[in-house]
Amino acid sequence: MSKQEHWNAVYGARAEEALTWFEPTAELSLQLFDEFSVKGAKIIDVGGGASRFVDGLVARGAGPITVLDLSPEALETSKTRLGAMADTVNWVAADITEWTPSSQWDFWHDRAVFHFLTERNQRATYFRALSAGLAPGGVAIIATFAPDGPEKCSNLPVQRWSSADLAVEAETHQPGLLHLVEGRRHVHVTPKGNLQPFEVSIFKRV
Ligand SMILES: C[S@@+](CC[C@H](N)C(=O)[O-])C[C@H]1O[C@@H](n2cnc3c(N)ncnc32)[C@H](O)[C@@H]1O
Repeated sequence: MSKQEHWNAVYGARAEEALTWFEPTAELSLQLFDEFSVKGAKIIDVGGGASRFVDGLVARGAGPITVLDLSPEALETSKTRLGAMADTVNWVAADITEWTPSSQWDFWHDRAVFHFLTERNQRATYFRALSAGLAPGGVAIIATFAPDGPEKCSNLPVQRWSSADLAVEAETHQPGLLHLVEGRRHVHVTPKGNLQPFEVSIFKRV
């Protein structure tokens, strides 16, 4: 099964509210957006899936907004939920590790995507895309499972990160590109009530 087939099957099998990473409102992401973004910022949600982060952004009148995900099925869920407002968003079905950005964004948001990149070459191409796609002075939020977080998500192995280690990894692939502003711990509560420790790394493009 390809990666895209895997994720399409995941989104096809269950309602969005039943997915372990589901949040009724993307509270922390929106809080970080309010804290670290500027008016009129161009936003990209990388691996946005069916997340409701986009709903909160649209409600704030923020944007322009791009949502990228490997799974067209996930993007359809968000488009259907948003209805007519979906036309205000740029939807991209692509693999971030194989994608060449056509533009630059001021706010790069990734919640629970980078940690699936367990191979070094995938992380290299991710950071290459980030380097091409993040505008000078832009902010990149990368939320991964923390070192004491789960070892798997959606039946796939993940690599867990501390913010300090993620900063070293970014520096290895794109020297001098990112400055770690802050790392925040966040514990996500799944719909079944399980706790998942996340590390939210906030970077600024130097
Ligand atoms: C755990 S879900 C998180 C979704 C969303 N960020 C959220 O917070 O609800 C991981 C998402 O990453 C997407 N994904 C996985 N690998 C990807 C890749 N290489 N490129 C783009 N999207 C990817 C999946 O389709 C899925 O929507």
